[in-house]
Amino acid sequence: MYTKINGFGIDYIVEGSSTNLPVVLIHGFPFSKKMWKPQIEALKTDYYVVAYDVRGHGLSGVGNGQYTIEYCVDDLVGLLDLLKISQAVVVGLSMGGYIALRTAERNPDRLKGLVLCDTRSEADTNEIKIKRALQAKSVKIFGAKKFANTFIPTVLYENTIKNKPEIVKLLREIIDRASPIAITGMLIALAARTDTSSWLRNINVPTLLMAGNYDEITPPAVLSSMKEQIPKAEMHIIPDAAHLCNLENPDAFNKHLLTFLKKI
Ligand code: MLT
Repeated sequence: MYTKINGFGIDYIVEGSSTNLPVVLIHGFPFSKKMWKPQIEALKTDYYVVAYDVRGHGLSGVGNGQYTIEYCVDDLVGLLDLLKISQAVVVGLSMGGYIALRTAERNPDRLKGLVLCDTRSEADTNEIKIKRALQAKSVKIFGAKKFANTFIPTVLYENTIKNKPEIVKLLREIIDRASPIAITGMLIALAARTDTSSWLRNINVPTLLMAGNYDEITPPAVLSSMKEQIPKAEMHIIPDAAHLCNLENPDAFNKHLLTFLKKI
């Protein structure tokens, strides 16, 4: 479904009964809600599942390409308002986790629980900011396809690339159709995001953290450190997975997610 939130086109899907506990899925950069297919299937019987494309991604609008994580939080809150969801369990992977963490800080009353996957609370280091600037320059010159060639191997475990070509194909399709204006705009937004670390100790909803054991972008140690600071947190490391652990090992991911949700 396509709607306007804060004047911006946002594409989303809902599955399951609206009388069930709402679970909102926020994907990573530069992907789309399509990366949540194994979770939507697993959750839709018992939960009210909402998955949407973050602005600039998937089928959502691109606008002028000037984004911030703050606007992404506005979009999430606007979507909750539109769907008349007062509180939800928010599940965010990587960039989705940055949005979820900033929502926990800005709009804690909208959360019933938090699931943080392959993400971090720290802002970018100078080294990462410079890397993003170079990536943005390259996307402007060479386009999204070339970006997909270099980006996809950094987010997947080598055995995923070897044994699960359907995942590589899906990610390539998503990035290939992405707008270079949106990719560069979001790279700048990621570099400009705030550090949410000091707020971790104030998160007072049940929180599940998950990380792929081979994730080199947001390694398990980064999430373990967050877990130590969040009062009601539990953590699981997902085997045979890197940065996209929900897609690379959906069985392990879904088992922990469903067990966590049952407790809420
Ligand atoms: C993501 O998966 O959302 C990105 O890798 C996040 C990032 O680059 O910081």
